[in-house]
Parts: sequence; C-alpha cells; structure tokens
Amino acid sequence: MSIDDIDSKLLEILKKDSRTPASKIADELGISRMTVKNRMKRLEDLGIIRQYTVTLGVKPLVSAAAQPRKVERVKSGIPGFDELCEGGLPKATTTLLMGPPGAGKTVFGLQFLYYGYKKYNEPGALIALQDSPEDLLTFASALGMDLDMNKIIIMSPFSPDTMIRERADFETLTINFEKAVEEAIIQVGAERVVIDPISIFLSRFEDIYTRRREIYLLNNFLRSRGCTSILIAENYNQTEYVLESYVAQNVIIMRYGIDGNHRKKELEILKMFATDHSRGLHPFWITKNGLNIEPST
Ligand SMILES: Nc1ncnc2c1ncn2[C@@H]1O[C@H](COP(=O)(O)OP(=O)(O)O)[C@@H](O)[C@H]1O
Ligand SMILES: [Mg+2]
Repeated sequence: MSIDDIDSKLLEILKKDSRTPASKIADELGISRMTVKNRMKRLEDLGIIRQYTVTLGVKPLVSAAAQPRKVERVKSGIPGFDELCEGGLPKATTTLLMGPPGAGKTVFGLQFLYYGYKKYNEPGALIALQDSPEDLLTFASALGMDLDMNKIIIMSPFSPDTMIRERADFETLTINFEKAVEEAIIQVGAERVVIDPISIFLSRFEDIYTRRREIYLLNNFLRSRGCTSILIAENYNQTEYVLESYVAQNVIIMRYGIDGNHRKKELEILKMFATDHSRGLHPFWITKNGLNIEPST
C-alpha cells in the first residue's frame, strides 16, 4: 500500500471538504482531472478513503428538536391503572411486566388487549408461549372477556414441549419466533402486542451477549412497527431480568405478600419512559371481572 506526495496532498484537500470538485483539486495539484479521479478510485480500492461523509450544522438539528413533542398515550383500560401513569403507557414502547406465578400477569395482558379493541378500537396480538390458545380463550371468558378473533390474534409459535424438552437450535428458534410475531402483527394490524411469557424464549440463550442482542432486536422491531408491547417475565428471582429491565422502556412489577390470613397483591411501576408515574405500591384484586387497581398507596 504505497501513497506518494500527490496522494497525501489530495487526501488533505478531501479531508477539508470531501465534495471539492475534481477540477479544483486538479488545478491545485497541477495534474489532470482524470488523474485525480483515478487516484481517488485507487485510494478507495486500497481502503484509505472509506467514505465521504456529510456533517450537519447544529442549527437545523436544534430547531427541529425544538418542536414540541408530546408523548402519545395508549390507555390500558384496566380500572385504576392509567391514572398511575399520566393516562396510559407511552405509545410504541415496550413494557417488561414481572411477577411471581399467580400474580395476575396473564390477566393484565389479556385485559390490555381486550380493552384495546373494545374501548379504543386497537387490534392486538398475543404471542402465547406457555398456555394454549384454547386455554387462554377459556381463561379470558371466565373473566368476562369474549375475545373477537378478528381483532385479537393468539399465536403459538411453538409448543412448550419444543421450547423445554427438545434442544431446537437457537437459529431456527429465533427465526420461527420472529416470523410468528411479525405475521401476527400483520394479520390483524396489531397496535398492541403481548408476549406471555417472554421468559421461555429468553431462557434458551445461555450466553448473555446473545440474550442481550435478542431482547434488543425484539424491542427495536416492536417499536419500529409502532406497537405498544408487554413482555411478561416470570420473576422468581428479582435479578434474573436485569438485562431486560434496562432494554425495556417501562418496568412494572406485580407481587404479593401476606396480610393477616390472606394474600395481598400489589402493583408497582418501577420505571416508565417520559412519565411522571406513581411511585406507590398499589393494592389490586382480581375478581371474575378482572383486575382492579387501587389508587392509594
Ligand atoms: N375468572 C377468575 N375469577 C377470579 N379470579 C381469577 C379468575 N381468573 C384468574 N383469577 C385470579 O388470577 C390468578 C391467576 O392470574 P394469572 O394472570 O394467571 O397469573 P400469572 O400469569 O401472573 O401467573 C388466579 O390465581 C386467581 O387468583
Ligand atoms: Mg401467566
């Protein structure tokens, strides 16, 4: 890789302004335009010139950003929830919903989708990785929600058996999963997506870098489609989803403790994108009409 004096001078000119016309460079260096072009081509082939970049002035960027931007809200419709977070989840963000078994995560996810189309005319997709679609329909029905299959799609990309017992290779698993999510969104034009539970998918990635990449790509994909999504995480161990808690824009925890001789359930918003959310622990109940969250802390 040899460059001579003329090359060095040519590079100096281009470093100052990569759009300097070949005729001007030719004049400055006392060579022909054709020679300038040939030399530039050679420098590109050698990888010495990798790209010609454009630097934007600060002014136009600042004035564009100065436009008032409002965070659009997606109402969950769940009694007591939207009041805790300025009217709903920020649109096109991803929420990690964590909690131990029986906390009510699936109920939350189903209500988010059900009210989505019932009250706000927004179709939704449920990616079911644990319960069968039939069980979920029965579950929803027992909570007074008859899901309209034209507005809500329940997609089971693979059986729990495949996920847990078979050692399906990661590549196939990931491709099938992503395809299923994309198809589900397209089929009903989903604006809301619930993945229940994401844990099954993520637990297959033993190596932390792959797991980070997968969750990052999934979050980007869902957001790029404009979907407001809930990823349900089975939380037995608080530190298990540290990675996902950083990647997701919002984190909600549903948990329970013991109060006298009965279980007390409570919901907490740990973080939420651009939202002055409640910092309280909000008691909630699940009845045959679904979740009901108390405003008081
Ligand atoms: N039809 C119903 N009537 C009353 N309570 C219900 C009904 N369905 C579910 N629940 C309550 O919700 C709990 C299960 O919630 P679920 O969303 O499945 O938990 P998770 O997904 O967090 O494991 C049940 O243990 C019960 O307390
Ligand atoms: Mg569940």
